[in-house]
Amino acid sequence: MRIIMKIELSDNKVFFENQGSKKEIHPFWLRERVNGIDFVDKGTKQRLFDPTTLNQNIKINKVNLTDKFLEISFNDGVETKISIQSIFEEYSGINDIKFIKKTKWDSSLKNLNNFQFSENIFEEKIMYEALISFYKYGFIIFKNVPRENNFLVKFANSIGSIRRTNFGEFFNVKSKPNPNDLAYTSLPLAPHTDNPYRNPVPCIQILHCIENAVEGGYSTLVDGFTVTEELKEKYPEYYKILTEVKVKYQFIDKDVILENWAEMIELDENKNFKQVRFSPRLDFVPLIDKNKLDVYYKARKKISELYNSSKYRIEFKLLPGDLLMMDNYRLLHGRTSFNANEGNRFLQGCYIDYDSTEGKIKHLKRKFNI
Ligand SMILES: [Fe+2]
Repeated sequence: MRIIMKIELSDNKVFFENQGSKKEIHPFWLRERVNGIDFVDKGTKQRLFDPTTLNQNIKINKVNLTDKFLEISFNDGVETKISIQSIFEEYSGINDIKFIKKTKWDSSLKNLNNFQFSENIFEEKIMYEALISFYKYGFIIFKNVPRENNFLVKFANSIGSIRRTNFGEFFNVKSKPNPNDLAYTSLPLAPHTDNPYRNPVPCIQILHCIENAVEGGYSTLVDGFTVTEELKEKYPEYYKILTEVKVKYQFIDKDVILENWAEMIELDENKNFKQVRFSPRLDFVPLIDKNKLDVYYKARKKISELYNSSKYRIEFKLLPGDLLMMDNYRLLHGRTSFNANEGNRFLQGCYIDYDSTEGKIKHLKRKFNI
């Protein structure tokens, strides 16, 4: 559907019309958007004035509407030209990442969103395409990423900034003695999201395969968005309770206790999908009414069945040099078991947050005038 927007003038007032509904734009809103070198810094686009110190009683003395601009004189003597397009864009949030439509997928997905790595990729158009694909599918895989000198860190910091945790700047995923997490064993890992006990939860996990010379050790991914939509449609009562009850997620080791209370399915302010959390070895359901708990346990069992069902899971082997970037708010990940005696399986992992990917997308969009 095309959004029809229009600007109209009447009696020194500016009106904004969208889908037939017409509303006056507050003159102060327009006054805040005064531009030109005296009012806005050219490079940073930050205001050179503080709107909180302006007279509240701003009025428009004179206004003219051309094809592309609003020309306004305000009652404090300031004059400006504001582009109509910029008002439309600001209203509809055209640049906003949330307008990238998520593509639901299940085990039938064949396209593994592969992108060839090259040295300058971070400043190339292909990175823009890769990141858009990331928001559509929740994951992408870069091929042939250099494996020396913890290149993962450089990779993450070339998209944005690495999100350090108590596991360090990055972590080495290989079986080791006395592990503080099952990830560091050769046991299979059922689909889960990472770190639900953090506040905020790291948005994106990056896993770089350095070696994978074992028979098993396949990576698995499940689209939590697809599963959530399925649950909402077929089991609305379960969907409802999982979006309402806050559960305690906990991580304990000798140095720290991390706890966060949150829903298994978290919705945004418009009741749309925001985030899933699933890690059934470290969640603690609150002691609530028995009848409510009864529904909750059924709902948790059902969503666990869906997450673990082969209907939704894709399975693939990461090859040396492969770098998997996955949305930890949307996807669940896991791995099949492997025999550590057969050879080495060594992955390096780290986290980044959405500000990194969104910032990069917007930068590349500006750079290539997309
Ligand atoms: Fe994990």
